[in-house]
Amino acid sequence: MSKATGRRTQSYRGIVDFYDAEYAHNPMLHRDVPFMISHFPARPCDVLEIAVGTARAALQIAQHGHRVVGIDNDPHMIRAAEEKRSASGIDPRRLTLQCIDALELDLGRKFDRVVLLFNTMLNFVELAELDQLLQRVKLHLKPNGRFWVDVFNPDPARLARQRERGIESSVFHVPHLDRTVYRDMDIDIDATAQRQRVCFNYRWFEQSGRERRARVRFELTFIFPRELQMLMERNGLEIEQWWGDHDGASSRVSAIIGRGICHRSRERDHVFTHERARQRSPMTTRVAERTKARVVGALMQTLVRRRKSDITRGGTLDAVVGAEVARPP
Ligand SMILES: C[S@@+](CC[C@H](N)C(=O)[O-])C[C@H]1O[C@@H](n2cnc3c(N)ncnc32)[C@H](O)[C@@H]1O
Repeated sequence: MSKATGRRTQSYRGIVDFYDAEYAHNPMLHRDVPFMISHFPARPCDVLEIAVGTARAALQIAQHGHRVVGIDNDPHMIRAAEEKRSASGIDPRRLTLQCIDALELDLGRKFDRVVLLFNTMLNFVELAELDQLLQRVKLHLKPNGRFWVDVFNPDPARLARQRERGIESSVFHVPHLDRTVYRDMDIDIDATAQRQRVCFNYRWFEQSGRERRARVRFELTFIFPRELQMLMERNGLEIEQWWGDHDGASSRVSAIIGRGICHRSRERDHVFTHERARQRSPMTTRVAERTKARVVGALMQTLVRRRKSDITRGGTLDAVVGAEVARPP
């Protein structure tokens, strides 16, 4: 159970047995970890991966010579990660795996890097959970440590659709089960609560020809870039650099994936003002401005297209804009 909300935390993942095969051909997942590691110091670092899953990233980080601790609250994921670690021959002292809820995390030690990848931050749907998570991150950062987080930019067109069925279909093969699986996805978006209910639908055939089906349901929130900045600031973290995609090119800021690297604030007053942003990193400001213009522009177009009755009803997009500006610092 989460202390922040009293709710049982849920996993943002599919079926453990399918997980690696399911994402093996996702181009983004071929780029994200190498891009992140290219921003790590060359010397061996202590790295904490929160929500390590099947160690997709942790193994690569350890193979680059860093000492990694990976935690996940799902014992099945940890078991799958342990099996992969054994198969790869990595010494368990270089990659330690533990089954712990991120919201309860207190390892009693600090790290050069804390990383949270593949949209997993969005799994913490309540504001209180996000705060608690970021406090746990801060607790584990060395004074000059950095926090690397990777979340997608909300797509205003998708928010406006609210309900989608059977989207993003894919077929993948799970070698160790010799099984070919078809997957698609249903999404229901509550824009007022800033939550989306996601359902992964899986179908496959047994050797006998019998069709089998399985479903995995979970909730995600969505976070706009400026909200991410505010969340970090209210938890004493300061955004150092943004990237719009894993090639690091600012011209690709309009890509759906947004990512940030954050570090502990050195000052009590950690407000990251526009002027300071400009002084620190011109790219950071340009990226934030372009992203804001794109998101707000698209939201306004969507609102104009919608009937007035829709706009005044719950679950509409004007509330998202309101919530974004009304959130206290
Ligand atoms: C999408 S997977 C990402 C796995 C891995 N980081 C990667 O990039 O492939 C999300 C993971 O978050 C884990 N998770 C969800 N809630 C968690 C929590 N409260 N504490 C620890 N792990 C959590 C899930 O069990 C799952 O393994």
